[in-house]
Amino acid sequence: MRLLARLSFLACSFLSATAQQYAGDTISAFLPTISRAEVAFFRIPDPTGADNNLTLINYYSHGTNGQRIVESNIQRAIIVIHGLLRDPWNYANDTLNALEKVTDPNINQDSVAVIAPYFTSGDDKGYAYPWSSTQGSTTNALVWKGSQWSAGANNQYPRASTDTSSFTVLDTLIQYFDDATLFPNLKQITIVGHSMGGQMAQRYAVLSTQQSNTPVTHWVGNPDSYAWLSTDRPLSTADCPTYDNYRSGYSDFTDYPMTYGADLVAQGRDVLLSNYQSKQIAYGRATLDHGDDSDDCAPYSTGEDRNERFFYYIKAFGPSCDDPSGTNCDTVDYIPVTHDNGQMFGSSAGLARLFTDNFYGDGNKSYDFGYPRQQSGDDPYPNPSLVNTPPVTDTSTYAGNLTYQGCWSNQYPETAQALPTILYDNSSNTRQLCTSACVGAGFTIAGVQNTTQCLCGDTLNSQSAVLTVDSQCLLDCPGNSSEFCGGNARLSLFSNGFPAQS
Ligand SMILES: *[C@@H]1O[C@H](CO)[C@@H](O)[C@H](O)[C@H]1NC(C)=O
Ligand SMILES: *[C@@H]1O[C@H](CO)[C@@H](O)[C@H](O)[C@H]1NC(C)=O
Ligand SMILES: *[C@@H]1O[C@H](CO)[C@@H](O)[C@H](O)[C@H]1NC(C)=O
Ligand SMILES: *[C@@H]1O[C@H](CO)[C@@H](O)[C@H](O)[C@H]1NC(C)=O
Ligand SMILES: *[C@@H]1O[C@H](CO)[C@@H](O)[C@H](O)[C@H]1NC(C)=O
Ligand SMILES: *[C@@H]1O[C@H](CO)[C@@H](O)[C@H](O)[C@H]1NC(C)=O
Ligand SMILES: *[C@@H]1O[C@H](CO)[C@@H](O)[C@H](O)[C@H]1NC(C)=O
Repeated sequence: MRLLARLSFLACSFLSATAQQYAGDTISAFLPTISRAEVAFFRIPDPTGADNNLTLINYYSHGTNGQRIVESNIQRAIIVIHGLLRDPWNYANDTLNALEKVTDPNINQDSVAVIAPYFTSGDDKGYAYPWSSTQGSTTNALVWKGSQWSAGANNQYPRASTDTSSFTVLDTLIQYFDDATLFPNLKQITIVGHSMGGQMAQRYAVLSTQQSNTPVTHWVGNPDSYAWLSTDRPLSTADCPTYDNYRSGYSDFTDYPMTYGADLVAQGRDVLLSNYQSKQIAYGRATLDHGDDSDDCAPYSTGEDRNERFFYYIKAFGPSCDDPSGTNCDTVDYIPVTHDNGQMFGSSAGLARLFTDNFYGDGNKSYDFGYPRQQSGDDPYPNPSLVNTPPVTDTSTYAGNLTYQGCWSNQYPETAQALPTILYDNSSNTRQLCTSACVGAGFTIAGVQNTTQCLCGDTLNSQSAVLTVDSQCLLDCPGNSSEFCGGNARLSLFSNGFPAQS
């Protein structure tokens, strides 16, 4: 009942907005101009019901003639979300640069609308919106506190109305494009988030219940962390009592503070997971991105960096189905670039997900890029012979018939080593030397770690050691640069069969 009332209110406000007059206040600012797009001010309905003219700042693309788009020609809307640095001009520009690389002549600025909303924070005062040292923010520009926009928190300014979730903003943009009166030929809406924008896209997909006649895809590119959809974690939580607090999990949700999605969260994780699985997710993973920008302990219980977190996440909450053309089927693309949204968007995978998939509304989509999906739920331990990185499998048989058993965490090197004995730590280290030395000393398991270290034991300490992806063990052996000797707190492990654990 409440939802219906709200939707009809939204519908009214859009029908009353004439094309190209976005109806928000004009916020005077010092924003960069880019070619192919303008700064546009959208009015976001005020949840208080008051007439506060809440205004979202955006970069909105032009047609190929440099004029405003003709809505009736638009077949696809791309809502592209900036990262931590809040630079929508770069994200709009990079999306438009990628659009120019699409070879299908029907897919261009006349048929694709690109909008890059600006989730401003206090750091943008006096730059993105006017600021008075005595009165604070003096306009109706929507401003969020810190990086809370990435998790759906309510706005901080204007002071007269502070109940607008950044997720409500995404709902409103979807609603805007999904209006068949204004956009009669729209076939697809794509929410594209990279880095912190990728965090927002994931968290939004979990909590949003926004209905749309037009299919909506959520492109989640290289987030530093995820809101985890169960209460367990792949790695230890012992040193992080807050590991499950929102925005890393869903405990203490309303304290974040959150109001958006509170009813859904109160229904439990299964409801969140099933809401998430009803969405179409396109995962974009840069294989050269081993970065980590965490500012609290929670993300480390899901992996040591963006690479490991991604694999544990899709292992825990697998992509929905094998055939990406099915309804709400997810895609998983491995792209051989660094943490760079422009390279991600402009890659073959980026062009498919952002622009060509379902462009004609016939459901046609590209299959996974970079690495064929191995099994339903995807393979969190990729067969590296299929990816464009140095081979990390090792079929050799070492001393004592030890063979490679994958890359394992060593979470507590100070207090609970994965293997109890550090046999040596020096620049001669190789897989051959360490396995021979461990076997020679009477052990049955050997592990090389962090280039120089050789560890031995007869059982793996399961408190500390958890199997992870091979791509966490890519440091060269100092004694043989053709081999990998683990990673930082990650062991390349050798034993005679699957290692015994204790
Ligand atoms: C909202 O905009 C209308 C029309 O421009 C104006 O009359 C009204 O005063 C504005 N309200 C606020 C709070 O700025
Ligand atoms: C937008 O992209 C073009 C083409 O790569 C580049 O020349 C220009 O500097 C970019 N503009 C901004 C504001 O980054
Ligand atoms: C479907 O999409 C793929 C990948 O873009 C393309 O190669 C193929 O020609 C398309 N098929 C149809 C029937 O449009
Ligand atoms: C290694 O495996 C071979 C073949 O299975 C076996 O003959 C040999 O005894 C094994 N050696 C050790 C040290 O386990
Ligand atoms: C490293 O330790 C191994 C095992 O004790 C030894 O054989 C090797 O000579 C050492 N290398 C260096 C550079 O100390
Ligand atoms: C170095 O590593 C490669 C790959 O494992 C191996 O083929 C080669 O024999 C090793 N060289 C030495 C000196 O151990
Ligand atoms: C791995 O090596 C780096 C560089 O020497 C060091 O900073 C780090 O503490 C080492 N990690 C472990 C777990 O020993």
